[in-house]
Amino acid sequence: MSVLQDKKIVLGVTGCIAVYKAAELVRQLVKLGADVHVVMTESAREFMAPLTFQTLSGNPVITEMFKLYEERKIGHITMAQRGDIVVVAPATANIIGKAANGIADEILSTVLIATRKPVLFAPAMNEGMWEHPAVMRNVQMLKDLGRCFVEPGSGDLACGDSGRGRLADIADIVDEIELMLSPSDFTGTRALVTAGPTQEFIDPVRFISNPSSGKMGYALARALRHRGADVVLISGPTMLPVPRGVHTVHIGSAQEMAAAVDTHFPASDIIIKAAAVADYRPRVVSMHKVKKNDDAPRIDLERTTDILADLGNKKGKRLLVGFAAETQDVLANARGKLERKNLDLIVANDVTIMDGGFGSDMNKATLLLPGGETVDVPAMTKQDLAHRILDCLAGIKLKLRDIPDEPA
Ligand code: CTP
Repeated sequence: MSVLQDKKIVLGVTGCIAVYKAAELVRQLVKLGADVHVVMTESAREFMAPLTFQTLSGNPVITEMFKLYEERKIGHITMAQRGDIVVVAPATANIIGKAANGIADEILSTVLIATRKPVLFAPAMNEGMWEHPAVMRNVQMLKDLGRCFVEPGSGDLACGDSGRGRLADIADIVDEIELMLSPSDFTGTRALVTAGPTQEFIDPVRFISNPSSGKMGYALARALRHRGADVVLISGPTMLPVPRGVHTVHIGSAQEMAAAVDTHFPASDIIIKAAAVADYRPRVVSMHKVKKNDDAPRIDLERTTDILADLGNKKGKRLLVGFAAETQDVLANARGKLERKNLDLIVANDVTIMDGGFGSDMNKATLLLPGGETVDVPAMTKQDLAHRILDCLAGIKLKLRDIPDEPA
């Protein structure tokens, strides 16, 4: 289940050209299961009709402060208390100034004063306004009050200028909302995640690899960060954007992944190896492109390091999680790996099924624990599966906490 499933989000929309982007934000939040209630200021309504937001959210849009009938059902005070979070996107210099200085002269500024829930601002304005000392001071005042911000990005601005001030990417705003609404049960945990394939070069233009997209490992890195962990992600070559707030190290070969893992392993409490590491590499890498001739060439291979098995030998009190991508005897093969590599948890995947495997956004898995316990997870998004894996790990963490240290 998505972190946003059934969460009530009050979305304040203020008047600037980026209002049209707020429509996409509503669409994304609703897709993730959220119940979105839009509050529009008068100037926002100059840019877009409330009907757009009403249609996308499936809820009436709140535009006026004193409508007695609606006030009883969805009035500003009720709205301020009822949401799990209040998000203002786009947030103009005007609403930031009002919220910082306690002014409540229309519906949205009143909601912002009345709420005791977490508040997130996504500012959008001209660069000169964003950098104005008065705006900077107001932003700082709000931060000091515990309000959160998704900082604006750089690029072309509606006024014709180019610079800082455009509304942050919708994906980043959604990411921040997910972070603010996630449990923080991994706060203080240092996590190391590996993701994606490795590439073992034969010559400068050819390599041996596999179809891993990296989506599962990236989803785990995001979920860990949302739940409070400090995350290092060691990633093979993928097409995915670097997750926000995650220290990401890019590597190419299994050997480079082993070296990066070695660097970060000592400072990690949890290591999750979701990468699809090549088991073999060419014994000799040709300096130049191998030219074709009538005979098929023979490529002599040698074993790469089994990174996870090495970690299993020296893990100490760290929690070690592996993945088993199988095409047959899935559970038996996965249990063999769990035992051989001394893991605390293994995620077994049947990569031949429709709803899962390489490249898919979905996955279906069985989680296997050392005591023989198994947890079947039905088909769901990789992001949701990542949270299920973390729920299981949180349980293991709690159990470990209750086991007293052995006397020295
Ligand atoms: N793994 C690793 N280093 C390798 C190979 C695998 O760290 N050289 C890790 C993977 O990241 C995964 C787990 O070991 O977490 C299982 O990987 P998998 O490819 O399923 O299994 P193998 O151990 O390589 O065994 P086989 O290829 O025979 O299935």
